[in-house]
Order: sequence, then structure tokens, then C-alpha cells
Amino acid sequence: MSAPGAARPGRRARAPLLLPGMLALLAALWGGLLRLGWQLPVPPTPLAAFHGPLMVAGFLGTVIGMERAVALGGGWAYLAPLASGLGALALVAGSPGGSGPLLTTAGSLGLVLLFVAILFRQTAPFTVVMALGALAWLAAQIFWLRGWPTYRVAPWWAAFLVLTIAGERLELSRVVPVSAAARAAFLGAVALLLAGLALTVADFDAGVRAVGAALLALAVWLALQDVARRTVHRPGLTRFIAVCLLSGYAWLAVGGVLALVHGGVAAGGPYDAMLHALFLGFVFAMIFGHAPIILPAVLGVAVGFRPSFYAHLALLHATLVLRVAGDLLGWLPGRQWGGLLNVVALLLFAANTAWGVLRPPLTARP
Ligand code: HEM
Repeated sequence: MSAPGAARPGRRARAPLLLPGMLALLAALWGGLLRLGWQLPVPPTPLAAFHGPLMVAGFLGTVIGMERAVALGGGWAYLAPLASGLGALALVAGSPGGSGPLLTTAGSLGLVLLFVAILFRQTAPFTVVMALGALAWLAAQIFWLRGWPTYRVAPWWAAFLVLTIAGERLELSRVVPVSAAARAAFLGAVALLLAGLALTVADFDAGVRAVGAALLALAVWLALQDVARRTVHRPGLTRFIAVCLLSGYAWLAVGGVLALVHGGVAAGGPYDAMLHALFLGFVFAMIFGHAPIILPAVLGVAVGFRPSFYAHLALLHATLVLRVAGDLLGWLPGRQWGGLLNVVALLLFAANTAWGVLRPPLTARP
């Protein structure tokens, strides 16, 4: 993710662009709990059916588009998060006239165009990998727009997030020397991921297994190469970020193994486990770790680190273990309570982060 910059008040004007993404996150959480069978008030719009698209395209698509727009600069760059944010609002409203898939697809196209501009400025392995992530998202949105069931689109959504994050970590490896063999291994894992994705179109089961092998390879690579292995020995926020990254890589490996073993399942316990090992365990551990760096760069607000940040990280991992165990053992209460407590972990993260912004600890105050 892009490097932090000095806080500028003008950056706060970007907050409204992120609000639809935040709304999408809350709506997606509600829809996810309904999908788990919790007896909550059922909204008038199909939030349960839109849970995955709301999370990936509505929330993360808007946040990632915003981050890239800030890094690139220039007013047109903000059209990408604007389109996916409008798409998020349309999905929450029930997608009148099919507007949700259309607008989120426009948002993904906007991100691809952003990356075309970024590649013109800097063609490096990490920008190429992130651009491939944006292309995977565009492909996912087109498939969804064409009416593919969400379980078939899910590997493409997953590749969007994995390639974006892996590219960002590769970017950071510029400060740490990576051997030619390690670089080749990384690119090999990315090539396997792309080949697996393409295979899902012809043979879904074989394709998902290949994607799983690629995710496992990427997890091992990241765990071995990431600078986090060194920074985990430093104190404070630096160690917290490293713990987030390393624990996230463990979940990426779990998601990869589950995909490798179970292949192209379309619903049920193994499906829930493989998706959320990746989407919650990996992606949200990355978000937890990067939020204290990204929020200052994007919104111009400083996040004061507190050791209590470990509470939301520990809760996420513990409750995901419960959920995945429930999924794989066919133990419904474990799956349901794990999922509900996953939501609590995300809300605790939001509360802890807001607390860190509004009441930074004395040592973090200027
Ligand atoms: C935090 C609590 C969450 C809960 C309670 C939840 C719940 C669920 C459930 C029950 C399913 C259906 C599984 C099945 O059919 O067996 C599902 C599918 C899915 N979830 Fe989540 N989820 C959560 C978080 C996330 C996150 C953070 C993401 C993405 C970043 C995500 C993305 C998806 C996707 C893409 C699907 C597959 C699409 C579909 O089947 O409609 N979920 N989720």
C-alpha cells in the first residue's frame, strides 16, 4: 500500500467518497449473518444474496480504488472509487434496474484504467502484479454481470485481493534484497494463479484446486520473504503490523490448502471455510495491519497505536478458528457463533481505530 504522507486537511474531503464503501461493509455483514441462519430482521433488499459482491466490489473495491487514486493523484482518478461507491449504494438499495452490477463493473474498469496510468509511470513487477489484480476484478464483475453464480465468480474476486496485496508486499521488498530465484518463484506462483483462474472457466473443480496450490505457494513465499519476519522483533506499531501480516499469511495458506483439497464446491461448510480463511483471515488481517498507515495517507488523520489493537486481531483469529472448525466438522453452532463473533471482531477493529484517531495515546500525540 502507498507510503504515508504528511496530513493535509484537504484530504478529509475524501471521506465522503469512502462512506458508501463503509455502508456496503455494514450491509454485507448483515447479509452474511442472515446467510449463517441468524434470525435477524430481514431487510427489504436482498443483502444476503449480495453479501459477497457488497464485501468485495462495494467495500474493498471502493477502498482500494481510493487508495490508488490518492497514490496517482489527479481528479479523474477518483472516478473509479466514485463508480464502485455508487455501485455499493445501488446494491444496498436492491440494485434497481440492474444498476449494482453495472456500476461496480464501471468501478473495476476505472481501477484497470488507473493501473494503465500507473504502469506508464512505473513498470515494475509489483505494479504489473497489482494491475493483474485489477484485471481479475474486472473479469469477475463482467462474469457476475453476465449472470454467473457467485460461487463461480468468487475465485476471481479472491485473485483481485490476493494479487493486490501480494503486489504491495512485493513493492516493500524493494527495501529488502530479494534473490533472483525468489523473484522467479513469486512470478511462478502468480502465473499458476492466473492459469488456475483461466481453468475454472472450462473445469471449475480443477481450476479451484490449481488456484489453491497457487495461494499456498504465495503464502509460503510471503511468509519467507516478507520484511515482517524482521520487523516482528521491533516494538509498538511495527510489531503489531508484522504480527498482522504473518498471521494473515497463515490463513492464506489454510485457504489454499482447503481449495486444493475440496476443489470446486458451491456451498456448505468447506466452501464457507475456504472463502473466509482467505477473505477474513488473510484480507482482514492485512487491513488491520495497514489501517494505521493508510488512514493518515488517505484521510489525513493519524491513528495512535495502542496495545489494545491486539484485541481485535486475536478475536478475529480465535473466532475464525471456531467458524472454520464448525464448517469442517459439520458443527452448526461453531459455524454460526464463529461467524457472529467475526462480525464483533470487525466492529471492535472499527471502534479501536476510531478511538486511536479521536483519543491518541499521550506518547503518539504531536
Ligand atoms: C464477517 C463476517 C462474515 C460472515 C458472517 C459471512 C458469511 C458468509 C456466508 C454464510 C456465506 C455463504 C457460505 C455458504 O454458502 O456456505 C458467505 C459467502 C461469501 N462471503 Fe462471506 N461472510 C463474512 C465475511 C466476508 C468477507 C470479509 C468477505 C470478503 C472480503 C466475504 C466474501 C464472501 C464471498 C465472496 C462469498 C461467496 C459469494 C456467495 O456465495 O454469495 N465474506 N459469507
